[in-house]
Amino acid sequence: MLDDDVLDLSGESAGERGLDSSSPFFVTKKAAAVLKHAILDSYVVPFASKVGRYAPDGRVVYLDGYAGPGRYEDGTPGSPALILDSAARIAGFRQLDCYFVERAPKNYQSLAALVSEASAQGLAAHALKGHVEKHLGQILDRAAGAPLFAFLDPFGLGLSFETLTQQIFGSRSVHGTTGRHATEVLLNFDANAVRRIGGLLTSPKDTPGKPATLRAMDAACGGSWWREEFLASQNNTEAVRRITTGFADRVARAVRGGYWTIDVRNRAHHQVAYCLVHFSRHKEGMWLFGEAASLAQVEWRRACLPPPEEGTLFNAGDTFDDEEEQRARAWVARIRKNLEGLQQQLGTFTIDDHQSEILAGVLGQARNKHIRAAVKQLHKDGMTSCNGVGDVRRLRVTPPPQRRQP
Ligand SMILES: C[S@@+](CC[C@H](N)C(=O)[O-])C[C@H]1O[C@@H](n2cnc3c(N)ncnc32)[C@H](O)[C@@H]1O
Repeated sequence: MLDDDVLDLSGESAGERGLDSSSPFFVTKKAAAVLKHAILDSYVVPFASKVGRYAPDGRVVYLDGYAGPGRYEDGTPGSPALILDSAARIAGFRQLDCYFVERAPKNYQSLAALVSEASAQGLAAHALKGHVEKHLGQILDRAAGAPLFAFLDPFGLGLSFETLTQQIFGSRSVHGTTGRHATEVLLNFDANAVRRIGGLLTSPKDTPGKPATLRAMDAACGGSWWREEFLASQNNTEAVRRITTGFADRVARAVRGGYWTIDVRNRAHHQVAYCLVHFSRHKEGMWLFGEAASLAQVEWRRACLPPPEEGTLFNAGDTFDDEEEQRARAWVARIRKNLEGLQQQLGTFTIDDHQSEILAGVLGQARNKHIRAAVKQLHKDGMTSCNGVGDVRRLRVTPPPQRRQP
């Protein structure tokens, strides 16, 4: 567990700020939070629907380890309110058994009120007070034999690498990766913490708590390897990219899974506020998450638009749809190139087997409908016999017909 000096340095008290820079995180929601919530909102229902099919009584366990108060002060749903809403939507065919953990007493109070309302409506919801580390064992016991989705969204550093890989993933069945054995984690890897803690490596100042903070970062990353990465980087942007990827690679290797990383900013031109890293041990989860991330990015771009001004002829929102179409055209062109590369390399291939190659350059942005559009273009231009109709992932792309020699 981290002491308060460490938490200060790791960014917990700095946190994210609301639109009004004087107001704290939970007063209003910033664009970065829009993206993470939109991802949760569009992912958890399809996840629970799919994996819950094989679970006893259709029960799927959801853990929000750093839950916050549940709602922002302006009433906007935080992650708990969003998930309880998802749980209510699927209650007819899935039981989302939700565990929300929060250590700050004031946040816990609002969270507990929200959760007791949900329980009174028949949802399986539990608010737990204190550190997530303290409750984790008991929650994992409750999740034995059921699919598990964990959302870990701390300010600054969260669970240690060991807890994530050995306690969460390691405690889950190795007999299968799907259905009731499914284990997925979506975590917030805080770029501000990387910058702040990395800065300590070169700072001559004797900051209180410095050695402990560096050790806490070692524990979060699974070793001190990140220090070399930070020092070898040209700038903070490169350091955040190298350390996030190094972390995700190491976790994925340890748990024998795949991962997505999605950079989250408050504005397109801002530095990354945090990276959402999603770990799944199953191809299905990787595809479902890609779809959710892409849809969430649309909401994020919309949330970044400046508010419309009265009395002006032109508002940024007026051209939003056109810009979205332009973006989509560029993604389809990129995907088409990737498909052509695979045709050259492999001849015939199935979309399902090549997600990362097909989406290279547009990962987290484009989704299945853009892949379909690219296949259809190829077909229209006589470059494949695959017509792009049917389940996108099952499409088998064939190579272009051999040109006849004159
Ligand atoms: C970024 S906020 C959570 C936001 C929330 N997930 C949402 O999307 O609405 C992080 C929360 O984690 C709480 N927290 C920090 N360390 C914790 C720990 N070890 N265990 C449980 N909660 C913790 C903080 O008090 C804070 O409310």
